[in-house]
Amino acid sequence: MRQDLLSDAPSPAQRIPKRPDGETQGLAGLFPYYAGYAYDWAQHQLEREPSHSSILDPWNGSGTTTMAAARLALTAVGTDLNPVANAVALLKLTGLWATPTRPPKQQYDWDPSEAHDPLDYWLEQRTRRRFRQWLASAERQSLPSRLLLQVALFGVLRQTTAHFQGSNPTWVRRARASDEHIYLPDDELDHAIVRRQKMMVETLSQEQPLSGLASVLRASAAELPLRPSSVDRILTSPPYMTRIDYAIAYSRELALMGIDVWSDRRFRLSLMGSTLIRSREKAIPQCKSDLARDTWADIKSHPSKDSSGYYSTQASQYLSDMAAALKCVTRVARDDAHMTLVVQDSTYKEQHLSVSEIWMAEAAELGWVLCSKKPFPVRRSLITLNVAAQEYPKPPVAETVLDLRLERKEVQ
Ligand SMILES: C[S@@+](CC[C@H](N)C(=O)[O-])C[C@H]1O[C@@H](n2cnc3c(N)ncnc32)[C@H](O)[C@@H]1O
Repeated sequence: MRQDLLSDAPSPAQRIPKRPDGETQGLAGLFPYYAGYAYDWAQHQLEREPSHSSILDPWNGSGTTTMAAARLALTAVGTDLNPVANAVALLKLTGLWATPTRPPKQQYDWDPSEAHDPLDYWLEQRTRRRFRQWLASAERQSLPSRLLLQVALFGVLRQTTAHFQGSNPTWVRRARASDEHIYLPDDELDHAIVRRQKMMVETLSQEQPLSGLASVLRASAAELPLRPSSVDRILTSPPYMTRIDYAIAYSRELALMGIDVWSDRRFRLSLMGSTLIRSREKAIPQCKSDLARDTWADIKSHPSKDSSGYYSTQASQYLSDMAAALKCVTRVARDDAHMTLVVQDSTYKEQHLSVSEIWMAEAAELGWVLCSKKPFPVRRSLITLNVAAQEYPKPPVAETVLDLRLERKEVQ
């Protein structure tokens, strides 16, 4: 970590949460995940926490918060619905004890046509089978080594299928015809997987043993498996309101984990910010603040096509998910808890959507009081990557760091 040796002032990387462009070194380089903020910044946020503090990140992603907390000897819980993110987050915590797995025996008695495998969207049968043999061998390893192998497989799968990813990193397409399926001889694939594990072990071995106690759970932010009033500090970047489908972005890694996001809609539907509409979604957002409802009404009354249909329903779903998650987070927070949210604003057509103001307004309804609000500009956001949304001129996007304190808890 870069240190400012001359004064106590935070270094530039500690002052703003944006992940620097080059932050693919060290643990951040284990697997590319769209993290909401940089590691140095997260650590700076937590370093004044008393040693007994328990930290929560309800949208933990690749585990920037849980890792920063564990290095500072704090107790932390990170939850996320994406098992790919959870594997990466847990590897960061346990990877010091991981050892590379050797290539498994090749087995040819297994009938590759026996079941539909979502990896078939990209891989030729023999290559898909070899990935599956590697994954099966992970089951026999200790947890750290299993995670090391899983995340190495994510990386090699991503490299092998890079052809299916266009200029928009959050969209992945499938093979259109059988000659587009990727074939890699077993020995080449084995070599790549062994090499990747070794490189990752080298990175992980530079870590000090962690002194904190951190866990990573697969759970929804709206159904946190935690006791009421048990959390002192929340540090998180919630999902964006940008209609970018995270499930598609990680569809290859999810396929490896057995989740077929193309034929089974359940995983995509479960995510906050999903571009799919749940069938029982209420047209009116289930939120408490006027601002959330007014924002939804503005989208609904926009003259463009589908504003009163799909787009306002999708916005309503995001806003209802926000309210449900905030309610649950408030329930598990202690009185006087401190919450830091890194929130990205959004746009609808030419309209600027002040998403950070909506988070503030919804949190205020539950007893959170704003301590500070610091916007910072974003050069390249998920909105600018969403080519489909570029037909309207976009106002500049900002991210905001919201610091809130729980003054009078309005939920039980
Ligand atoms: C902006 S990312 C968080 C990135 C994280 N700060 C990091 O360092 O990687 C938002 C995360 O929310 C997760 N997510 C979406 N809906 C969720 C839900 N209902 N409950 C928990 N996590 C959810 C996504 O899988 C994604 O990992």
